[in-house]
Amino acid sequence: MSTTLQNDLLLRALLREPTPRRPIWLMRQAGRYLPEYRATRARAGGFLQMCTNPEIACEITLQPVNRFPLDAAILFSDILTIPHAMNLGLDFEAGEGPKFERPVRTAADIARLPVPDPGRELKYVVDAVALVRRELNGRVPLIGFAGSPWTVATYMVEGGGSKTFGQIKRMMYEAPRDLHRLLEVLAKSTILYLNAQIAAGAQAVMIFDTWGGVLTPAQYDEFSLRYMAEVVDALTRKADGRRVPNIVFTKGGGAWVKKIAAIGCDAVGVDWTTDLAAARAQVEGRVALQGNLDPAALFAPPEVLRMETRRVLESYGAGAGHVFNLGHGITPDVDPERVALLVETVQAYPVAAA
Ligand code: CP3
Repeated sequence: MSTTLQNDLLLRALLREPTPRRPIWLMRQAGRYLPEYRATRARAGGFLQMCTNPEIACEITLQPVNRFPLDAAILFSDILTIPHAMNLGLDFEAGEGPKFERPVRTAADIARLPVPDPGRELKYVVDAVALVRRELNGRVPLIGFAGSPWTVATYMVEGGGSKTFGQIKRMMYEAPRDLHRLLEVLAKSTILYLNAQIAAGAQAVMIFDTWGGVLTPAQYDEFSLRYMAEVVDALTRKADGRRVPNIVFTKGGGAWVKKIAAIGCDAVGVDWTTDLAAARAQVEGRVALQGNLDPAALFAPPEVLRMETRRVLESYGAGAGHVFNLGHGITPDVDPERVALLVETVQAYPVAAA
C-alpha cells in the first residue's frame, strides 16, 4: 500500500494545491456504456453478483482506467451495499433499478436495523478496495464512496427508486423523530463503512447525495446536510502519511454550496445546473469544486462537445481547486469515443489558462 503514487493530480486538486493541469474522472465511469462492462456483467450474472465479488469488482473498477487516461479510479460498488447489509432483501432487476423486499416504514422497522460491521457483512467491499489498490500499483488514486444518509434512506423507505418520494416525505412530516432515528443509524454505518474503505486503501472518499435536491432548504439542513456533516466530521483524515480528501455531492444542491462547504469537507460536487464561477464565488476558496459538464453533452457532435467542455473549464477560471467531472453519472447510451475526446480536451487545457 505504500507504493508511490505516480499521478496524484486528483488528491492535490481536491486539497486546492496547484497542479499543471486539471484532473478528470467521471461519475459512473465503470458502467454499461462500456462493452467490456456488459461482457463482465453477462458473465457474472447480475449487478449484485459483480459488487459482492472482489475480483470482479476490481476488474470492473479498472476497465475505464485501462481504456482512458483518467486521473482516478472509483471503486465499483453501490450506495445500497449498506441497506443490503441490513438485510432488507435488495434486488436489482435488469433494467428496472433497485428494489427492496422489506422496505422500512415504521418505528419498529427502524428500531430493528443493525449497524453493519464493515469487517463482516461488508467485507467484500473492503477486500475489493485492497485488491484494486494492489492492481492499480500507484497509477492513479482510488476513490471510495458511500451514499448520504438521506439518499440511502429514500431507497430504504420507498422500497426502490421514486419520482415523488411520497413515502419518505410522509414519514418526514408525520414522524420526523422516526426518520431522524433512521438517519442516525445510517450516519453511524456510513462512518464505519467509509473509514474501513480508507483503512483498506481508499485515497479519497465521496458522499453521493443524489436526492438532497428534492428537499426544501430547511429540510435539507435538517435531514440531509446535518448527517453528512456528522459523517465528514468523523472521517479518517490521514492514511499512509497523506491527507485523504473528501467530496460531498448533492445533486440539485447548487443554491447550497456555501453551507455545504461550511461542514468541513474538502470539495463540493456541483451538477450542471449551477455555473462554476458562481459556485466558486460562494465558497470563497474554502473548498475545491468538482464538476460539472451536462452528461448529455456526450451526445453532442465532437466540436460541440469540445466547446462545452472548454466552457466548463473556463467557468471555473484560473487557479487551483477544480476537478473536472460530469454533473451526474454517465448514461449507458454514450459512445466511448466521446469519452476519449472529453478526457483529451480536459487534459490538454493548461491550468494557467482561463
Ligand atoms: O462511479 C462509478 O463508476 C462507481 C460505481 C457506482 C455505481 N453506483 C455503480 C452502478 C456508484 C458511485 C454508484 C452510486 C449510486 N448508486 C448512486 C449515487 C450516484 C448517482 O448515480 O446518483 C445511486 C443513487 C445508486 C443506486 C442505484 N444503483 C440505482 C438507482 C441503480 C439503477 C440505475 C441504473 O443506472 O441502472 C443502480 C445500479 C448501478 N450502480 C449500475 C452501476 C454501474 C448499473 C447496474 C447495471 O449494470 O445494470
